[in-house]
Amino acid sequence: MMKETENRSPFLLACQRKPTPYTPIWLMRQAGRYMKEYRDLRKKYSFLEMCKKPELAAEVTLQPLQKIKVDAAIIFSDILIPLEPMGVGFEFAKGEGPVFHRSIREMKDVDRLKIIEPEEDTPFLMKAIRIVRKELEGKIPLIGFSGAPFTLASYIIEGGHSQNYILTKSMMYQDRATWDKLMEKLSEVLIRYLNAQIRAGVQAVQVFDSWVGCLSQADYKEFVLPYSQKILNCLNKSVPAIHFGTSTSTLLPLMKRAGGDVIGVDWRDDLGEAWKRIGYDVGVQGNLDPVVLFGPIDLIKKEVKRILRQADGRPGHIFNLGHGILPNTPVEHVVALVDMVHEYSSK
Ligand code: CP3
Repeated sequence: MMKETENRSPFLLACQRKPTPYTPIWLMRQAGRYMKEYRDLRKKYSFLEMCKKPELAAEVTLQPLQKIKVDAAIIFSDILIPLEPMGVGFEFAKGEGPVFHRSIREMKDVDRLKIIEPEEDTPFLMKAIRIVRKELEGKIPLIGFSGAPFTLASYIIEGGHSQNYILTKSMMYQDRATWDKLMEKLSEVLIRYLNAQIRAGVQAVQVFDSWVGCLSQADYKEFVLPYSQKILNCLNKSVPAIHFGTSTSTLLPLMKRAGGDVIGVDWRDDLGEAWKRIGYDVGVQGNLDPVVLFGPIDLIKKEVKRILRQADGRPGHIFNLGHGILPNTPVEHVVALVDMVHEYSSK
């Protein structure tokens, strides 16, 4: 029964570059602050509380599905979640994003990082996945996710978000042994973390290397590719993997080399041209500029048609934004976007 639904899911078919009756769509950050239902719950709980209470995480995962007819759900969590049990606690300071209690700068800091057991150290996530799978009754697939080693390394080295990645790149350039050890440990944790999510029931995974676009091709190849490649190689191959980053124009072919059944493309690239450079032997996901959703319906229509034209009806395109939905995005525009993609791509 479940198997049959999976075989017909346009999202999962597109991940395998098989033909679909229409282009599937889901949206990064489809659960979140643009929705009133989310903001109402957030008045009662902090973001991390919502991640750590499985019933709440499940509820928030399902919230957008009442309104928008997306072809996949993504489990409500955060890429930073495995870092706390590794020994680098953090909090979300008001309006500032994540702030870490201590930073990882030297070999002795890296030595202290714990290799986690995801079922024991992040049991709330596995439980949330089981609840959501049950509630979805196989209607649409559930996506699990993690950060990629580079993006997570940047958070724990800098102690938060960064402009120029000075400390991160300085470790790469000046303290190779510490960098390699840190990336090795993060990779080991992320392999365990993603495979645990797959065992708990996610039907696809996305690896977010959100900030990797700050690197040159040479640095990506030398300092990052081997680790991202190891993760993508060691994942349970029964589910597809999406490999995503932003500002990655110059890195896309290398990210493809690192692995993934589908490569995420942000809005700065022309999707058709990017796919050609990546190669047609993998799928692509993207790539509407999230800010287009603030514009009038006619603008959204024009941009959706342009992106669908660039994908050229080729099997393997998953429609998405180039990055997450922004707070204050009008909900009715998100509803309209999903319907438009389905309508204009219908065969
Ligand atoms: O896509 C989804 O709907 C699933 C949920 C999800 C969240 N974060 C929820 C969230 C996913 C996939 C993420 C990934 C994530 N988290 C990334 C990679 C994706 C990207 O945007 O590039 C990164 C870099 C993070 C780290 C993170 N989490 C930051 C920097 C922030 C604060 C910045 C901000 O937007 O306020 C978060 C908080 C966060 N993660 C929120 C949500 C819904 C907002 C929390 C709130 O205040 O309610």
